Amino acid sequence: MAATLIKNGTVVTATEMMTADVLIDGEKVVAIFAPGSLSGLNADTEIDASGKLVMPGGVDVHTHMELPFGGTSASDSFESGTRAAAWGGTTTLVDFAVQTIGEPMMSGYETWMEKAEGNCAIDYGFHMIVSDVNEQSLKEMDVLMGEGVTSFKLFMAYPGVLYSTDGQIFMAMQKAAENGSTIMMHAENGIVIDVLREQAIAKGQTDPIYHSTTRPPVTESEATHRAISYAELAGAPLYVVHMSAKEAVAEVALARDRGANVFGETCPQYLFLGWNNLSEPGFEGAKYVCSTPVRNWEEGHQAELWKALATNDLQVVSTDHCPFCMNDHPTLGTQKRLGEGDFTAIPNGLPGVEERMELIYHGAVAESNLNLNRYVEVTATAPAKMFGLYPQKGTIAIGSDADIVIFDPDATKTMGVGVYHMDVDYSCYEGKETTGKIETVLSRGKVLINNGQYHGAKGDGRYLKRGTNQNLI
Ligand code: URP
Ligand code: ZN
Ligand code: ZN
Repeated sequence: MAATLIKNGTVVTATEMMTADVLIDGEKVVAIFAPGSLSGLNADTEIDASGKLVMPGGVDVHTHMELPFGGTSASDSFESGTRAAAWGGTTTLVDFAVQTIGEPMMSGYETWMEKAEGNCAIDYGFHMIVSDVNEQSLKEMDVLMGEGVTSFKLFMAYPGVLYSTDGQIFMAMQKAAENGSTIMMHAENGIVIDVLREQAIAKGQTDPIYHSTTRPPVTESEATHRAISYAELAGAPLYVVHMSAKEAVAEVALARDRGANVFGETCPQYLFLGWNNLSEPGFEGAKYVCSTPVRNWEEGHQAELWKALATNDLQVVSTDHCPFCMNDHPTLGTQKRLGEGDFTAIPNGLPGVEERMELIYHGAVAESNLNLNRYVEVTATAPAKMFGLYPQKGTIAIGSDADIVIFDPDATKTMGVGVYHMDVDYSCYEGKETTGKIETVLSRGKVLINNGQYHGAKGDGRYLKRGTNQNLI
């Protein structure tokens, strides 16, 4: 592959902001220098980034392509979902392979590798969902570490499906403390939630809004507290996924303040959506059903999440991209409508992999919730550090992969299903006006997106054997 020069842009990393030229040779960044200061340079391709931001490609460490859930499967395949991610300025993702109950973890891993291999537009890795903690699974955690799967997600919710008991969780944490992996926790008290759900349905409360009222903040904060207590006792790093309740974030903040190896992630839906969306007329609220749930604006969760991102009480914004169609998928049909008349049957999850980078830029920089460096940090650098991908991914530095987004900070956009490429028939942000727009996306030096054209191909993406949590965030 040839040399590319990105000229005159404002290069932004988690720590720097400078007007500079970036030279790419093949797949790597090889020089960053004052504009025009290297004489006699003969790049094969020059890209003028005057007036534009030059930022690291996004790193989304929480996606679920093709995930089987609630009697159906997430509608984006690895092919369509990674292509959409590229359109949205994300150049690395870490998806979740799944162990089902009774199955060896390795066969779950192999199944997911087969789904992804040769189909991805961008580089990808895997976490492992552990549904069946037993003696063999604990041994397989060591084997998977050798495959570059260095993080394991456990569920305190969904009894009978993905749920682990406290004892199982604690044993997995002890293993993580021993082998250097990270435990990711879906922290919701699923036992209490199931009681509340049954009671709601018995009272005729069947609409989508009851998905959130039956998962009140305390079910998230109690589980978060419990997970932190067990992780500290076991000595394992803990990363709490998809956080939405301010009370749960307070638990993470308290733990971090006492020096515990505890980290928290939130997602765009918790920063931008709320009960007004879940209560949309008819069955429209089903679009926003995910777990943890989007919360009540009046309780101030969304503002607290932005504040926690600014103060590093929360470290990462990923998407939890897990789309299901409302009306119109050629093979999967009307997926969300499985729960018409019974909110407990609505598949949990929503789309977001393509929207994250522009949406969070809008909320962070255009709406002044975070500065530009912190925007880069929470969407690219911190997740790369957290999951053993840094500095190959998540920054622009000499020797890093040339995964780069050229971004117009002044352009505006109207979000909506019509402008996106995800394989889903709605956008949670239909009609939202945002500032800041992705113009060009490079993945390991190859231009994937430029001026509204896609130049990538399935199979461009490579599997990433990840290292361990670098304890840097
Ligand atoms: O609603 C969600 N979050 N669906 C995806 C599965 C999970 O728990 O992350
Ligand atoms: Zn989860
Ligand atoms: Zn998830």
